[in-house]
Amino acid sequence: MLKVRIDLAAFRHNYHAVKTLVGEKVAVLPVIKADAYGHGMLRLAEECLKLGAPMLGVGTIEEGIALRRHKVASPVLLLDGIFTEQAEEALKFHLTPAVFTLEVAKELNRIGRKKNKKIAVHLKFDTGMSRLGFTMAESKDTLAQVAKMKNLHVEGIMTHLASSGDLQSPQTEHQLMRFNAVLEEAKRNGMKSVYVHSANSGAILNFKQSHFTMVRPGIVLYGAPPNEVKGVEFKPVMTVTSRLVSVKEVSQGEGVGYNATYITPRKKPVGVVMGGYADGVNRLLSNRGTVIVRERAVPIVGNVCMDGFMVDLSRVSGAKAGDEVVLLGGGYEETSVEKWADLANTIPYEILCHLGTGPRVQRVFK
Ligand SMILES: Cc1ncc(COP(=O)(O)O)c(C=O)c1O
Repeated sequence: MLKVRIDLAAFRHNYHAVKTLVGEKVAVLPVIKADAYGHGMLRLAEECLKLGAPMLGVGTIEEGIALRRHKVASPVLLLDGIFTEQAEEALKFHLTPAVFTLEVAKELNRIGRKKNKKIAVHLKFDTGMSRLGFTMAESKDTLAQVAKMKNLHVEGIMTHLASSGDLQSPQTEHQLMRFNAVLEEAKRNGMKSVYVHSANSGAILNFKQSHFTMVRPGIVLYGAPPNEVKGVEFKPVMTVTSRLVSVKEVSQGEGVGYNATYITPRKKPVGVVMGGYADGVNRLLSNRGTVIVRERAVPIVGNVCMDGFMVDLSRVSGAKAGDEVVLLGGGYEETSVEKWADLANTIPYEILCHLGTGPRVQRVFK
């Protein structure tokens, strides 16, 4: 139904742009969770490793196992951690969990003792996002306790920044101040972590002091930076196309689509494009979105349906069934992911995740 083209050269370009920004000494952990934000986790994992990434970041243990089944042997960090009962499985697949509860730390330590080895973990601290991580109140005690767990190797210490794409917000500085205090405390407990990391895309672009020894870019790798940075270009990686499955003249005064939310003001050619909300075409684009047919921007008319949507082809001459339709990307301003996100009242992340995946989407890498 929808054809998703993934431009690997653009992905490589974006990776190099990050590398240039952070410098040679800082490691880059590409975040490829959620099927690489809809771009295809397995294929992009291979690409990241070819680019020299020392470690890959996914959300869940299932994603980590999928990488292992795909013969990815590099270190893999589980950013969302694990449940206590998943500890054995995580270790069986050599996955490195982010740890943010003492129960999980103790369980990993217990298994490590049984196997007579040290288990690598990254301790995650909540410095102000109130999502995952040991709280500031418990951080001192946590570090003291973990330091005594002889079968854990605290390979990494991390936090996540909530507002790094917003240069006006004081939150990032505040979170980094707290994180630095955690790092001091870790040092007092004799921890020498190789990887200290806090920076997502926004922080990579805007807060050099957040880079530490490793950064975790996601959205910039896919070409949708949270803000512009002078002299640095990120290229969109995903292009989504479809085809017109029908073109016909609709008389004046007819309703288009469910509930007739669009009434033709005059006779006009209306095309039906394959790909609907079941395929990630957000219903908020009904009567608002724009796609490209024969190099022309054409408006979506009527409500987006499950399998497709209608477009007003008045401005296109000779459009016919079978013509290609650009929904997202392709170098047109009207179909940029930022534009889609704006119209759908969301963020580029959600658009990419939804449009790039799904059982009816055909993904091609080039
Ligand atoms: C822990 C963690 N690190 C890094 C990232 C990457 O963030 P971004 O896509 O904004 O670069 C994410 C994504 O949400 C995340 O959850």
